[in-house]
Formats: sequence, C-alpha cells, structure tokens
Amino acid sequence: MDASDTVRFVLDGQLVSVAGVPPTMTVLEYLRDVAHRTGTKEGCAEGDCGACTVGLGELAQDGTRVRYRAINSCIRFLPSIDGQELVTVESLRSAAGDLHPVQQAMVDHHASQCGFCTPGFVMSLFALYLQQPSPTREQVLEALSGNLCRCTGYRPIIEAGCRMAEYPPPKHWDRDTQYSSDRCDALRSIRREQALRLPGWYSPRNIDELATILEANPEALVLAGGTDIGLWVTKQLRELPTIVYVGEVVQFRQVRRDVDGLVIGAAVSLNDAWAAIAQDWPQLGELAQRFGSPPVRNSGTLGGNIANGSPIGDSMPVLIALGAQLELRQGASTRHLPLERFYLGYQRKDLKPAEFVVSVRIPPRQAELLVASYKVSKRFDQDISAVCAAFAIQIQSGRVAAARIAFGGMAAVPSRAAMTETCLINAAWNESTVTAAMGALAQDFQPLSDLRASSRYRLQCAQNLLRRFFIETASPEVALRTDAALPAVG
Ligand code: FAD
Ligand code: FES
Ligand code: FES
Repeated sequence: MDASDTVRFVLDGQLVSVAGVPPTMTVLEYLRDVAHRTGTKEGCAEGDCGACTVGLGELAQDGTRVRYRAINSCIRFLPSIDGQELVTVESLRSAAGDLHPVQQAMVDHHASQCGFCTPGFVMSLFALYLQQPSPTREQVLEALSGNLCRCTGYRPIIEAGCRMAEYPPPKHWDRDTQYSSDRCDALRSIRREQALRLPGWYSPRNIDELATILEANPEALVLAGGTDIGLWVTKQLRELPTIVYVGEVVQFRQVRRDVDGLVIGAAVSLNDAWAAIAQDWPQLGELAQRFGSPPVRNSGTLGGNIANGSPIGDSMPVLIALGAQLELRQGASTRHLPLERFYLGYQRKDLKPAEFVVSVRIPPRQAELLVASYKVSKRFDQDISAVCAAFAIQIQSGRVAAARIAFGGMAAVPSRAAMTETCLINAAWNESTVTAAMGALAQDFQPLSDLRASSRYRLQCAQNLLRRFFIETASPEVALRTDAALPAVG
C-alpha cells in the first residue's frame, strides 16, 4: 500500500501507518497520545532538555545501512519522519526482557533517581553506542550535551556512558543491527511511489516540484528540520499555513565538492554540513560542536539556519567570512547572492515570494588563509551566542593582503566589519595595527543590550576576539584554546 495521505514509518520492526495526521502533530505527541508509548517524556517542548530524545533511522545513500541518530521528538513533526524508522526507549528491551547495555550501565551506575530524564539520556547514549564501539569521555559528554537532569547529577550518567561498551553485546540492538538486511529491507519496502500529501502538507521530491508547489502556494511555509519552526507551534502556539517540507528534495540533501568549492544543499543536516566544512577548516570543529546539541544538529539544517534570518545564528559569521554564496530559486529562475547581501534588516531577507534557498557554496580552501571563529555564550554547550565572530585574513610578507571579518550578535543582521577590514588591509599584521582595528570595530557596530549581554560587553568582546585571533595567528605558541576534536557524534 502506498497511500499518499498516510504517514508510514517502521517501529519495532512493524510498519506503522497513521492516517489523518495534523501536519504539526509532533513525534512526541504521536508517541504519548496516540501510541501510548509514554516512556518518552516531555520536559521543555523546545529541544533543550532532551527528555523526549528518540532514535531515527534512515536508509543510508548506499542502501547497506540504516543510519540511526538521536533527535528531539518534541519539535519534530510526525509527517517529516515518513519512510524512516523510529526507535524509542521501549524498543531497546529484548523480547525476553533483558535490558540493553546502555540501560544496564545506567542501572549499575545508579544513574537515575526520579527517572524523568532517564529515557532521554538512554536514547542519546544508545545513538552513541551504535556509532562508537568504545566512546571516549569527551564523546560521551558531547552526546549528552542536549540532556538535562535535575536530580541525579551528571557524574553517574557520564560514568554509565563511559562503561556501556564494556558489557557483552546484546542480542537485541547490537552495533551490527544498523547493517541488518532486514532493517534495510523494511525501509526499502516503504519507499513511496507518490510523495506524501496531507491536507496542509506537501513533501516534494525534487527542486522543480518544490518550485511549482511554492509558485502555486506563495503563502506556504518552507519547513526543513523544524528546530526553529517546531517551537513556533509548541511554544508560541501559532497556527501554521500550508507546510512545504523540503527534507525529501533530493538535490537539497547533497554535499559535493568541485573546483569552485564546497556546495552544501539546503536540507543537509547541521551535523553533516559542519562535518564537511570542518574537513577543510578543522579549526572550526569547536564552533560546530557548540552548535545546539547532537539531536538539534541531526534535525536542523544549514539552509534553515541561513534562511531564518536570525542576527545570532551561528553559521552566518563564518560563512560570510569565508565568502559563501547562496543559490536561490523562484519558479524557473535561479540567482546567486553573496550571503552577506541576503540579510536586509532585522528578520528581513532578500527572498521573494515563492523563492527558496537551494544551496550554499563555500569557496575552495586556500592554504594561506588564516581562519577562526569564536562563539561567546554563557554555557559551552547548547546556548545562544551573545557574540559570534569569524575572521578570514590573508597575510603576505607580513602585511594583511585580504580581510573578511563578520559578526553575529553585534547588529540587527549578521554582518561584516567594513571599517575594521579597511583598517587592516595593507597594514602590517602587528600589535599596533590590531589595536587600531579594535578601535574601528566601535565604528562598525553599536550593539544592542539585551538579557544575554550589554552593548558595552558585546563591543569589548568583539574587540578582544580580534586581539585573540591576532595572538593565535601571530604567536601560535601561545595556547589560548585547546584543539577541539571534530564533532564525532551524529
Ligand atoms: P526550520 O525550523 O525548518 O526553518 C527555519 C526557517 O528557515 C523558517 O523560516 C523556514 O521557512 C526557513 N527555511 C528553511 N529552509 C529553507 C529553504 N531551503 N529556503 C527558504 N527558507 C527556508 N541556532 C544557532 O545558530 N546556534 C545554536 O547553537 C542553536 N542552538 C539551538 C538549540 C536548540 C535547543 C534549538 C531548538 C534551536 C537552536 N538553534 C541554534 C536554532 C536552529 O536549530 C537553527 O536555526 C537551525 O539551523 C534551523 O534549521 P531547521 O532546518 O531546523 O529550520
Ligand atoms: Fe525537552 Fe524535547 S521535551 S527537548
Ligand atoms: Fe530526575 Fe534526572 S533522574 S531529572
């Protein structure tokens, strides 16, 4: 059966078909209210606490493996998991009732008190268990960076994560499960002939179809990972117009490299997008790791981060500093735009009705370009930037030959520091040039004060980050930061 109006996915090896799904029903609402699988909890309903974490399995492009990743079910709309496999905490127990090593490790290390957060921790660790045969403590910390616990304290939970690999492999859900032909076949068997079509929901499969649907429905809302839009529903209780989900658009999911650089499709997940960027610029690994949490990065997309138009989105400063260009499409017309010209004012973008982001292109890596990006927020993980800075500077014979500097959190839009760049270009890359350029930053930006930071703090931060970049590049022996590992948890 390929009913185009029925959401279909695999749960515990069974095909589940759900008819009459409201487009904004979340996966969590389905689990708790419809399927009565109440192991998955609701804490915050905004992607922050991890109590709702579940696993989502998707057939890998080569068809030989199911890629399981942790996501926040509270902000993911059910129709967007059509064709995938859902794994919940109830799925982990074997038919004989044995606990999975992740669960047994949690029990053995006394890692649960009231238990409300526990299923979410288990599912985050479960995703890590499948991905990493012997995870390091850092990988455990990163995997758990989107899970909050109010009563146990994190030490026993982290300990459970560090020891879970020592347990004998389970019969149910060992690491090879992801390569099981039965599981791959189950997903192949629910591939659709026709795209899913619900009242108020389109899932086009290619760009032409998407362009046509949007031209016919210019008021429709483009939905990618829903890590912004999900909150419009769960927190702001907004009624959404017709949704056009772009996660099925094949061209949007591709990452490719050519002579003109790295091209990342608009619906590539933040995790995959940042992994590709960090291949060229390993020093950006820390920024990638500090973007939300693994479940947020598994659902959220780079296209969504660009298109939401936030002045504090973390991808924009570095993409602008690297000279990224957008490909935009409206109907049959395609145009290209430097990313910094996309933002016209607070939450205003150069996007016409029915126009959408296709991809972002980052120019090829130049060995001589010095690049860094710094995020300043109160917490290391899962926090919103007060200031985010990115620098891309080329030094030739001790002088600045080219400079692109961009900031988030300093103005109504992510923007370049034009006066600062002018001050640097052709000047010697030394202390006095940098001091002058720090002064120019005050001409470039008069930042706002808000609950995250005062205007003075933001400006001082931005100036100090430029100084830090200078120290790191001119005196690399001065250790100002630890080398961040590339994000290993997907
Ligand atoms: P969606 O929610 O699907 O869409 C966002 C916007 O983009 C919508 O207006 C949508 O219409 C539009 N859109 C999406 N795709 C396209 C397209 N192809 N063409 C045109 N318009 C499009 N952000 C950060 O920058 N840094 C963080 O550290 C961070 N942490 C977060 C932590 C949590 C807990 C949560 C819930 C969010 C966080 N975010 C963060 C915000 C969010 O995750 C990002 O902005 C993400 O990139 C949005 O992508 P998405 O695919 O989920 O977008
Ligand atoms: Fe808190 Fe989903 S309920 S992250
Ligand atoms: Fe109570 Fe974590 S065990 S919130």
